[in-house]
Amino acid sequence: MPDLLIVTIDGPAGVGKSTMAKQLARELGIPYLDTGAMFRAIAWKLGNGSWDWDEARLQTSLDTFDFALSGMGDTSVLSVNGTPIGDEIRTEQVAMWASNVATLPVVRTFLKTAQQALGAKFSLVAEGRDMGTVVFPDAPYKFFLDASVEERASRRFLQLGDLGKPADLKELKAQIAKRDDQDRNRPVAPLKAAADAITVDTTTMTRAQVFAALKKGVRGQPV
Ligand code: DC
Repeated sequence: MPDLLIVTIDGPAGVGKSTMAKQLARELGIPYLDTGAMFRAIAWKLGNGSWDWDEARLQTSLDTFDFALSGMGDTSVLSVNGTPIGDEIRTEQVAMWASNVATLPVVRTFLKTAQQALGAKFSLVAEGRDMGTVVFPDAPYKFFLDASVEERASRRFLQLGDLGKPADLKELKAQIAKRDDQDRNRPVAPLKAAADAITVDTTTMTRAQVFAALKKGVRGQPV
């Protein structure tokens, strides 16, 4: 079997990981894996507050999720039990539920196994919070994207506006800050840069500049 390539992109909410991961995956001609969508899909299905906190029963629920990946680049499709994951998971409320379920070791272990299984099958640009630290620690190319919370809230605000979903900027900033805080401070697989990751502070960069930096990184050039 030919060697598989894994590129990891980690970083906080709203920093632009998905946009960059899709673009880089297209450039490299490999699939892109949105691991946040896996946490969101589980949170959405289980609902908030009604999780079965009993580990054995939660495990039984988790075992009903069969994730599969098809396609490449920005047209990669992540499915659960044969159905592509849709836009129903793309709300700040589901994101917060996902951050909540992501604190549970049983959920993290389950998804780590599923993510590593996909990485054993396909070359990937894998984006999330713990791709470079925990799930693919041996990946040859690791990036950590960062930006101020103000900048990330403002990017999300503009993105939602473009989608015809006006939002409150102050509220968005508070939601993002709350989620970051939980993601950074959980005991298991917290959000942080891998020691060997290239960190890119994108606060004052354009998308084109960030993408150019990632392309340099995967070519082994200084970023
Ligand atoms: O990337 P996202 O916003 O779709 O992720 C939603 C939540 O899922 C995030 O706040 C924390 C959790 N998550 C995680 O803990 N580990 C990952 N690798 C990806 C997401």
